[in-house]
Amino acid sequence: MAKRVDRFVIIGGGRVGTAVGNILQRKGEKVTAVASRSDESLKQVAKHIKDIVLTSDVVKAGKKGNVIFITTPDDLIADTCLSLVSGQAVKKGDHLVHMSGALGLDVLEPAEELGAMTASIHPLQTFADVRGAVKAIPGSVFAVTTRDEATQAWAEELVRKLGGDPVPLAEKDKTLYHIGAVVACNLLVALEHAAELVYQEIGMHHERALNALLPLVEGTVGNLKRLGTEKALTGPVARGDIGVLRRHLECLEQEERKELLKVYTSLSMYALDLAEADVSKSRCEEIEELLLHYS
Ligand SMILES: NC(=O)c1ccc[n+]([C@@H]2O[C@H](COP(=O)([O-])OP(=O)(O)OC[C@H]3O[C@@H](n4cnc5c(N)ncnc54)[C@H](OP(=O)(O)O)[C@@H]3O)[C@@H](O)[C@H]2O)c1
Repeated sequence: MAKRVDRFVIIGGGRVGTAVGNILQRKGEKVTAVASRSDESLKQVAKHIKDIVLTSDVVKAGKKGNVIFITTPDDLIADTCLSLVSGQAVKKGDHLVHMSGALGLDVLEPAEELGAMTASIHPLQTFADVRGAVKAIPGSVFAVTTRDEATQAWAEELVRKLGGDPVPLAEKDKTLYHIGAVVACNLLVALEHAAELVYQEIGMHHERALNALLPLVEGTVGNLKRLGTEKALTGPVARGDIGVLRRHLECLEQEERKELLKVYTSLSMYALDLAEADVSKSRCEEIEELLLHYS
């Protein structure tokens, strides 16, 4: 039997879809078509992926390949899959792939019912633009979720082709997995915004505030890399400095700072978990009591 040749189609020519197409093409893979919504995004795709069919017609694009990536916004993946299936752009034996961290394989079920193999490959990384994604996809960890061993092996190979590091993820664990990613990435940005606002309160322009904070963040990330979470923790909780903590909490007690007080007390509880190895049990209990008082 002749070896099957993968012909890749991308539906959703944004940051991730365009970068994936670019990487696959540079690896010598056949990328045949990209469908996207607006002329603007199609023009962007043309800069990064050469000699392909560019169209706003999802079904037309889908018919050009046997491996279809759906890289639209998450909320549109299920409808896009339905359009592909009802337009007969998906056949038995095709592969349908999405790259969402939050969604399971249920959004691709109409294709699975036709005999297509479905996979989710999620890069544990953040991409602000196509160039950044082209650089950062290789080397990223990818969570790979499929429904059977053969598709799992195929999807893991696909991730390696993209330069990624595949890690199997059970479908039932996807939501918790995605919560971990949101906490590590998006909520870190929200935390930096909170710190920026505090510095604005003492008169710093917000850009100056962020520039002042970034070396601290980078230093912390460096410590995390070298030492891990427990040893990277510094500051009043790590030192058991209850006097400093009390001053902070009193300062945050004002009505206009009550949101920050909630964040400060709940994250300090997690920090206390990490400090337990170095701070005496009785001091940890005192700190916990103090934090609970302000929670
Ligand atoms: N960005 C990240 O950091 C990141 C990280 C990991 C995983 N992901 C996942 O990657 C996937 C794509 O995310 P992204 O960041 O690349 O999104 P994005 O940059 O917003 O791109 C989505 C693209 O889909 C197109 N689109 C919208 N509706 C469409 C439709 N009905 N038919 C065809 N194309 C349509 C949009 O076109 P227009 O621009 O013309 O509207 C846009 O080009 C998502 O599942 C996301 O969860 C993203």
